[in-house]
Amino acid sequence: MDTILITGANRGLGLEFVRQYAENGANVLACCRDLAEASELQALKEQYNNIKLFALDVSNTEQIQSLANELKEPIDILINNAGMLQKENLQDLSVDTLLQTFMVNSIAPIKMAAAFTPHLANSKRKCLVCISSSMGSISENLSGGYYSYRSSKAALNMLMKSAAIDLASQGIKVLLLHPGWVRTRMGGSEATTEAVESIQGMRKVIENYQPAAGEVIFYRYDGGTVKW
Ligand SMILES: NC(=O)c1ccc[n+]([C@@H]2O[C@H](COP(=O)([O-])OP(=O)(O)OC[C@H]3O[C@@H](n4cnc5c(N)ncnc54)[C@H](OP(=O)(O)O)[C@@H]3O)[C@@H](O)[C@H]2O)c1
Repeated sequence: MDTILITGANRGLGLEFVRQYAENGANVLACCRDLAEASELQALKEQYNNIKLFALDVSNTEQIQSLANELKEPIDILINNAGMLQKENLQDLSVDTLLQTFMVNSIAPIKMAAAFTPHLANSKRKCLVCISSSMGSISENLSGGYYSYRSSKAALNMLMKSAAIDLASQGIKVLLLHPGWVRTRMGGSEATTEAVESIQGMRKVIENYQPAAGEVIFYRYDGGTVKW
């Protein structure tokens, strides 16, 4: 059975990934930064004995490395899901927000990739997945704004392209996903897609992902692709 590690697992898309993979019988390593506050995740753990919980603030690179040292088992699918979005205008762009958003959305996923390379390489599936966003697509940016978020996801995409090339010799595949506009705290109540549908779609894309060595495909949850 696959072992799947998910960051930002306490709510939104991360929580739904945990629910669906656990229901499917996978060994789920669910990470979130505040286990005491993660009541829905704790409730899922009560329901399924194939879920293990770990504290992980992805902006803390020491925590990333110590979790990688602690976990000895192969990881078939690592899902870099944790993310943040801060609304902002050009005139009030905050350096702190830019730095924090890059830390969570771009730097953390590549540090996760580096720390967990051995776990992925020792697994059967060897699949590194990042939840990116079509808002990180330069060609699809027709409305501007969201400086920190858009640029951090574009950086994530480039970081993962390099990683895919560097990790290809170990058989590791790298996949970028756009989950749709999903009704979560980040997506808001106007969003058009439910988390259940988004995760069902993304699980299907992950299941069928067969890139060439070093190739990265930027898929939508429904199987379409996003232009870079
Ligand atoms: N919803 C959408 O429409 C949409 C569209 C495109 C892409 N995405 C991407 O999908 C992913 C999940 O988003 P979502 O919609 O589920 O958002 P969400 O409901 O706001 O959840 C964000 C998750 O990320 C976690 N997180 C934030 N900073 C963290 C940190 N430093 N360490 C660990 N965890 C951290 C949050 O944990 P806390 O509870 O501790 O804050 C939470 O679990 C993100 O990467 C997002 O950019 C979402």
